[in-house]
Formats: sequence, structure tokens, C-alpha cells
Amino acid sequence: MTAPPAPPRRTQGGVATADVVVSARVGDNAELFAQILALHVPAGATVADVTFGLGVFWRRVPPGRYRLLASDIALKPGVTAPLGATLTDGVDCRALPYEDAALDCLVLDPPYMEGMYRRSADHLAGSGTHAAFRRAYAHGGATDDGPKWHDAVIDLYERACREAARVLAPGGALIVKCQDEVSANKQRLTHVELITGVESLGLYCKDLFVLVRPNSPGVSRLKAQVHARKNHSYFLVFEKRRVGVRSTRDFSRATPPAPPAPVAPIDKLASGPGRGDNCA
Ligand SMILES: C[S@@+](CC[C@H](N)C(=O)[O-])C[C@H]1O[C@@H](n2cnc3c(N)ncnc32)[C@H](O)[C@@H]1O
Repeated sequence: MTAPPAPPRRTQGGVATADVVVSARVGDNAELFAQILALHVPAGATVADVTFGLGVFWRRVPPGRYRLLASDIALKPGVTAPLGATLTDGVDCRALPYEDAALDCLVLDPPYMEGMYRRSADHLAGSGTHAAFRRAYAHGGATDDGPKWHDAVIDLYERACREAARVLAPGGALIVKCQDEVSANKQRLTHVELITGVESLGLYCKDLFVLVRPNSPGVSRLKAQVHARKNHSYFLVFEKRRVGVRSTRDFSRATPPAPPAPVAPIDKLASGPGRGDNCA
């Protein structure tokens, strides 16, 4: 007869375990998103996924666990909602059809590459063999107003996050997916821009997850590499709650120099107690 498994070792006020949600992992969106929801959003919560896309995020979430309101500005043909969810087409995440403070959680995952925001649909990134990528990740139309390039990416996030701050109830969670990018040969740290931007709306950045893709990113026509090729993305979790911490710092302001330490006379130092104690 085999002995029954030992119960988990108890520590003061908890249980010793390695089964914890960690901040970085290699894997896919669906696995990590399900973990993030389980950690940060209680069952029964009303959740709006306002950039539903193909609904990949929801593939590992137990159906019926949340009241899901799924929408997208341009739903993909044939996309269906998970069991019990509502699915609405033609909803712009910058102007949501929800009352103030109506939601417990909002999920935002707009196109994160500047190549998806061009004045002409013919100039959008993702042509030829990458057309499926564009179909899945963008709405396929031109961006005919507002800023250009990387600033167009941030402009959409900014307006959608303002809307999220309006429709979330106090204590509600905003889950934002993003990826940094090199645009016009400059490194643009989208996740930093989002953290500082959303904090300025009065939300608290409660958690940050790094997702590393399991396969190597392919590069066509590489000449000389200048920046590391991105193979990671982020999920940021904000809480609609004011806290006394901010992620913005200003190191350029000179701080007054510290007053000089009092100097002991030399004769006292030579004979004083403890001198050289640590030199043995
Ligand atoms: C990266 S995909 C989302 C993928 C999705 N999270 C999934 O799990 O399949 C981006 C989506 O944002 C949508 N989108 C782009 N601009 C939008 C806007 N202004 N309002 C709402 N949805 C938008 C696109 O149609 C596309 O489906």
C-alpha cells in the first residue's frame, strides 16, 4: 500500500507552493490571458472585450465564468462569441456604448504596429504572405485623421483608455495588450508610454506580464541589425483606484547636495574605539 501524498506544507498564514502565476512566460496569448483573468477578475464580473478580433484571448477562459460583452470595429467573417457572450459589430473602442462606471473589466488589444495605421489601405503593413496577419490584427481600413506612424498607435490607445476610465466602475480592471516597436529607426517603448499615460488618468498599474513567443521571429531582407528583434509583448493590468505612487520620475532636477558629515579630529580617530575592527 502506498502512503497518501503529504499535504502541502503550511507556512504562517499560507501554503508553500510553486503553483503561482508568474510575471513572464513563453507561450501564447490564450494561456496567459486566462491566468490574468483568474488572478485579477472575479467570476461573475461584467467584462467588455472591445477589440475582440478572432476571440483568441477567450479560448482558455471557462465559458460562462464572466458576463462577456464582446465587440470590434470590424468583426471578422465567421467569428462567433463564446457561450453566453454578446457580440456586437461596428463598435469603436474610442466611443463605447456603455454608461459611466458600468463595467468591472475592460480588455483592450488594438493593432500595436504603426504599419497598421496608414493614410491609404494600400499602404498597410501585411501584404502578400502576411495578409492573414493583417486580417487578424487590423480592421483593414485606412487611418485618415490624427497623428501618423507610432503616434497614431498611441493616439488610439490614448482615446480608448480614456473611454475605459469612464466606463469602468471604481476598483475595475483595465487589461491592455501591447508590444514595443521600432518606428522610423527609433525605439518606441509603447508599454512605458501606456503605463505613464494611463496613470495620468488616475489608474494604478497593478501588474505587468511579459509574453515571449515560442518561435523565432523571421526577418526578410536583413541588412545590418540595429535593434534587437522583438519577440515579446506585454499585458498591463490597471486598477481604477488612486494610489500614492507614480511611474514617472524626473532625474534632471538637481537635488540639493547632502550636508557634509561632521569630521572628527585626527588624534581621536587614531586612538578611538573600533578603528580597524573590520579589517581582520
Ligand atoms: C490585435 S487584434 C485583437 C485580437 C484579439 N484580442 C483576439 O484575441 O483575437 C486588433 C483588433 O482591433 C480591432 N480594432 C482596430 N481599431 C479599432 C477601434 N477603433 N475600435 C474597436 N476595434 C478596433 C481590429 O478590427 C482587430 O480585430
